[in-house]
Amino acid sequence: METYHIPVLLKESVEALNIKDGGVYVDATLGGGGHTTAILESGKEITLFAFDQDPDALIHNEELAKKYAGKLFIINDNFANLRTQLSLHRIKKIDGILFDLGVSSHQINVDSRGFSFSLDGDLDMRMDQTRELTAKELINHFPYEELRNIFRDYGEEKQASRIAKAIVEAREEKPFSTTLELSEFLDRCTVGPKKLKIKARIFQAIRIFINGEIEVLKCALEDAVKILNPEGRIAVISYHSLEDRIVKKLFKFEEKDCICPPKLPICVCNKKSRLKILTRKPIIPSEEEIEKNNRARSAKLRIAKGTGNYEI
Ligand SMILES: C[S@@+](CC[C@H](N)C(=O)[O-])C[C@H]1O[C@@H](n2cnc3c(N)ncnc32)[C@H](O)[C@@H]1O
Repeated sequence: METYHIPVLLKESVEALNIKDGGVYVDATLGGGGHTTAILESGKEITLFAFDQDPDALIHNEELAKKYAGKLFIINDNFANLRTQLSLHRIKKIDGILFDLGVSSHQINVDSRGFSFSLDGDLDMRMDQTRELTAKELINHFPYEELRNIFRDYGEEKQASRIAKAIVEAREEKPFSTTLELSEFLDRCTVGPKKLKIKARIFQAIRIFINGEIEVLKCALEDAVKILNPEGRIAVISYHSLEDRIVKKLFKFEEKDCICPPKLPICVCNKKSRLKILTRKPIIPSEEEIEKNNRARSAKLRIAKGTGNYEI
């Protein structure tokens, strides 16, 4: 069964990269290879590095790697290691980078990966299965306060405290083992008409924590800005407000020329603008795209270009 689905905001994100002959580009999130394929099919002579921390993505794209040998380099690593990995290929600067964040439809649709609350699988949720911490370990062993904070900070869930307390009590009787056990438990211990949304938020929170998604995103965006050529593009598709906020904030900070307190008569920080934002408001999918691909419904694309003001 084909488990990778239609790429989101495909045309818009590939256009965002402004692909030029001779350029070096990065797809930070290879997944099913939809964006990577479209970038390679742009008709320009380019080199493309595609990252994914999940070995399943590499297996899925084996044919693509063969077809574009010498042009496409697939790297099985976290995009947090962007600069280290590129330097192994003697690449110091890039002309464009795309992040299509979060989990792939493959990861959600394969029950054994444990990402979905409607499929029965092991409570796992690791994109990179060499990581030690699984969702099962987190749910069965983290103290109440930490669970509450994770549900509140990464799921923005109002019932975080009630849910964390209920989990801690229930696991004394019987530890949680599968996604459906947790999913059915959440149905029982939450109140109100929004049970499905609450479940989605709790699963999202666990996934974000297990994969260190927020910390990794911050540091990878900073690194990407550092290696962007003048006029080089950075494009980010995010799927929830936590991610989008980070992108928006970082773009705004990097666009500023001076960050001295306004009281100071002259600039002492010497900060230079390193990005120019190209999307004051994020690009969102058309209704037609959302109709064809429900996964696109929450997507937001933000684009910026490098100013060349980064000294490393
Ligand atoms: C939304 S999917 C990308 C889909 C892809 N653009 C396509 O066209 O099929 C996100 C992918 O990025 C990977 N990923 C998420 N965070 C990552 C990270 N920090 N480092 C490397 N890969 C990551 C996931 O494993 C997943 O395969």
